[in-house]
Amino acid sequence: PGRKIDVLPVIGSTNQHLLDKIGQLSSGDACVAEYQYAGRGRRGRQWVSPFGRNLYLSLYWRLEQGPAAAIGLSLVVGIVLAETLHELGATGVKVKWPNDLYLEDKKLAGILVELQGKTGDAAHVIIGIGINLTMENTSTDQIGQQWINLEQSGIRIDRNTLAAAFINHLIDALHLFEKSGLTPFIERWYAFDNYLNREVKLIIGEREVVGVSRGINGQGALLLDQFGEVTPYIGGEISLRGI
Ligand code: BTN
Repeated sequence: PGRKIDVLPVIGSTNQHLLDKIGQLSSGDACVAEYQYAGRGRRGRQWVSPFGRNLYLSLYWRLEQGPAAAIGLSLVVGIVLAETLHELGATGVKVKWPNDLYLEDKKLAGILVELQGKTGDAAHVIIGIGINLTMENTSTDQIGQQWINLEQSGIRIDRNTLAAAFINHLIDALHLFEKSGLTPFIERWYAFDNYLNREVKLIIGEREVVGVSRGINGQGALLLDQFGEVTPYIGGEISLRGI
């Protein structure tokens, strides 16, 4: 069956749009919007989504093995987005563990994966990406962190070309992920890892850990090297030490 893409001028959130019609979707169905008035970020944050030429895209996937099999999936999405941008000429785009894209040490894109389904059943997965292609009329105060768009670093990529290439590559990657898990992606992650061998600070709730990032393991955990001892961490947010 052909894949369906809802192209909407305005919506609250493309993720929510797909969540609302989960029963009618098949794997690979997608939604893009020009503007989101309730764009969602991770940890309950908002995703500022002005009109312009940014890409707000969500894709539905039915994961037969159930919700537990989704561990590491957001890393796969980041890898595919970085690879697609690279293929279209955006050099210097990197992945930030666990699920952002960075350019020049500033945030370029965010990924929000939302899951529905009980253990034992297939999981419904909504994969959402927001990427800054241009960001006119938006102040940094509205966003609350250092961000960048492709255009300000001299990279112009056609939005529809990007959306189509990304969807195709993502679907290929999701098939591979279902078959083999994260393992075939580890090397691909290393090729784009913004923090590899750099000293980082990891904040996990109230705790703060400093170490040298050594990439990821097969479960998608961050590997932190502290005086030669490497420990996997499954949660938290990293930043460069001193930032
Ligand atoms: C983050 O970095 O916090 C994740 C941001 C994810 C934003 C995208 S834009 C398309 C999709 N719809 C949403 O409401 N959010 C995601």
